[in-house]
Formats: sequence, C-alpha cells, structure tokens
Amino acid sequence: MSDAISIERPGARSMTIPRRSSFPEGFTFGAATAAYQIEGHKFGGAGSSHWDSFAATPGNVVNREDGALACDHYHRWEADLDLIRDGGFDAYRFSTSWARVMPDGRTVNPEGLDFYDRLVDGMGARGLRPFLTLYHWDLPSALADHGGWMNRDTALRFADFAETVMARIGDRVERTATINEPWCVSWLSHYLGEQAPGLRDIRAAARAMHHIQLAHGLGVERLRGLGHDNLGIVLNFADILPFGEGDEKAVATADAINNGFFIESVAKGTYPEAALEGLEPHLPENWQDDMATISTPIDWLGVNYYSRGIVSADPGAPWPSTKGHEGPLPKTQMGWEIYPEGLSNLLARMARDYVGDLPIYVTENGMAWADEIVDGAVPDTERTNYIAGHFDAALDAIEHGANVQGFFYWSLLDNYEWAWGYEKRFGLIHVDFETLERTPKGSYFALQAALSD
Ligand code: NOJ
Repeated sequence: MSDAISIERPGARSMTIPRRSSFPEGFTFGAATAAYQIEGHKFGGAGSSHWDSFAATPGNVVNREDGALACDHYHRWEADLDLIRDGGFDAYRFSTSWARVMPDGRTVNPEGLDFYDRLVDGMGARGLRPFLTLYHWDLPSALADHGGWMNRDTALRFADFAETVMARIGDRVERTATINEPWCVSWLSHYLGEQAPGLRDIRAAARAMHHIQLAHGLGVERLRGLGHDNLGIVLNFADILPFGEGDEKAVATADAINNGFFIESVAKGTYPEAALEGLEPHLPENWQDDMATISTPIDWLGVNYYSRGIVSADPGAPWPSTKGHEGPLPKTQMGWEIYPEGLSNLLARMARDYVGDLPIYVTENGMAWADEIVDGAVPDTERTNYIAGHFDAALDAIEHGANVQGFFYWSLLDNYEWAWGYEKRFGLIHVDFETLERTPKGSYFALQAALSD
C-alpha cells in the first residue's frame, strides 16, 4: 500500500548510525528480547509450552532445536543487563513467559514470578527502564490441549495471567504490551503452519486471529480497571507492494490480513472488508460483540518492522488468492529484503490513519547475519549499516509528524529464532551456543558510540 504514502527521502542514506542528539529530546533507545528465545525454559519450574512440543515434532524446526537452554539468560541475566547498560541503552524490552509463571496456564509458579521480580529490580538498579511484553508466544501446553488460541477461553485466561504478572511487577514497568505480533500468533501459526501450533487451516486461523485480538482487549480492560496505565500492543507490519500491474487487489487483501486486521480492530473497532471477505464465514459466532472490547483505548503502539512484501494475484488459488515474490534488494540472513523506506511509510501511515498523536515505539527492528568471531571480534558492518538506515527512516517519520518516541533493536543477543533454531543470528551480542559465552559485535560498539551523546 505504499504508492500513496511513500515519503521522499532527501539525499543519500548515511551508513553512520545517527547519534542520539539527532533524535528528539527524551527519545528512548533500547534492546529487545523474548522469554522463550533466551531464558532456558527447562529452569525454574516452567511448564511445557506449545513451542516445546512443536519443536519436538520432526520437520518443524531446523535441527529440531528448542528453547530448553537457549542463552541460559535465566542464570546469566545480571551479566546480560550489565551489557545493556554498558551499551548506553535507556530501556530493555523483555517478555514474561506464561508457561513459566503459570505452568498449567492457571496456577501460579512462585519461582517464575520471583525471576521477573529480580529482573525488573535488576533493571532499576542499572538505570534501565523496563518495557514489558506479557505474551511473546510461549502458550502453556495445558491451554493448547484445549485448542489454544482457537478457544475463546484462552483469551479469558490471558487476562488472568496479565493481572497476575502486573500485580507483581506492574509497579516498576514503564510500559506494558499485551501481545507480541498477533499476526504471527494466528495467521503464521494457524494458516501458514510455520510456527506453533503449526496448523494450516483457514477456520483455525480466523478464530485465532479474533481470539488473540480479544485477549488483548480483555487484558487492557482488566489492567486498566486495576489502575495500571501505559498499556499497548506490539504489531508487526510489512510494507506490501504489487508485483506488477493489476495486482492492486492482491495488495489490498494481503495488507488487510497482515496489517489492517490487527491495527484497525484495535484503533477503530472494525475488521477491514478485504479481510472479512474471506474470513467472515470462519470467525466465531457473534464476533461483532467483541469489537468494543478489542478497541478499548490504548496508550501507545509498538511497531515491529523488518521488511516489505511483494505480492501478486494467484487467480487459481482459494482466498486470499495471493502469492509472494522475491524482491531484488540486498537481503539479510533470513532472506528478507533490506528496505528502510518501509519503516518510514508504516510509521507515517500508523500516525495518519490509525493512532494520531499516540506515542509510537519501534519495538523491534534488526537483522540476522551469519556472524562469526574473527580474532576475538565480530565485524558485522552489515548490521551497523542496517541500523543506520532504519534510524534514518525513523527520523524521516518523525519529521513527517509521527510521534515516534523510542526504538528497540531486535535483538540484544543471538537467540532461538523459532522455526529457524539457533542458526539465524540477530544479536548485537554474539552467543556461542556451546559455551554460552557472550561477545559484543561491532554493531554493539557502533551503537554505544552513537548513543553516547
Ligand atoms: C519478531 C518476533 O517478535 C521475534 O520473536 C523474532 O525473533 C523476530 N521477529 C525476528 O524474526
């Protein structure tokens, strides 16, 4: 949907990371992670999550790797927080594992809550501001057994989980997001089958899409009622472009599934027509009655951005009758095109069409690269350039009026990249998965220098 909204970028893009002083006063710089990807799920009495069983099933994850040990952050969190502080960051975006806090999805594991309590205190002690994401994909298996996100009850249970976590650490977190990337939780996981639970079924997907939005709304309602504030959601957006002439309808459909369904329901209480066209018959009965809850006002929006998508019509195929195409731009280790313009476009579009002046944070942006340690250092110039381009893009959006207040690099550490296992390295800090040794990469030092004034 770029045509009408693309922003002209003056001059050539610099390959130097813009300095802190280029951003508005008080702009927040952070690094981001998620529980299952770094903690080590086998520690501290965590219950089985649907990612454990998905990973244990052949064909789902590269090398059948799982998050049992991950980066062992559960034991190494103090040194990891030191690295964030020493990098010059202001804030840390982390998530709480539902299966750690409530191993059976309902009953509290005190050890789990204690861990997050120590972690937020540790941030405070280092002057780091906690940005919490309540749900970043580790659904307790006990809830998955009852249909997971296909079951409306999971949304109700999420509100209980949110209340439990916030009762313990809500007094010390600066901002809270309910859900991370509902598109991945629902469409990618229940229609494309690429993430847990690995289904490929339009009805399952439609139900999961609605219920994850409902979980967000119920969570915000519950937390607001208890006096918590600074509540938001983290959505992933892709800038969708046509493959050729006549592909406008395909773009509209793909954009509605990827972007519109999630932001429009939160911001306006409606689902886009172009999504309902195919999803309506599969949505739960009386879904309209939930739209007021889903659009309960939020205080901020998190935007995760990685790349663009190029789509064409696929007339023979069932709805959504679209297919993706590889683009010509340089790509990251994930095969994702490097396209910072998409970030400016989407930030500007969010402000203009959906959230107005509400604070927007780039809650994730980063790149995977096959980094290696060479003579004790990791020379990842590609990542430094990537960050420079996307910082510039955020600055463009700010100049065009979007109220962008912060930027979190994904990710602090090389970690468990879901279905890709440990092969794809997104970190500012290299992790040796044999020894678990951390080695800050060149991009970490480049950011450190940029953030020092
Ligand atoms: C989005 C997800 O939130 C995160 O968990 C993942 O590792 C990154 N994208 C990179 O794919």
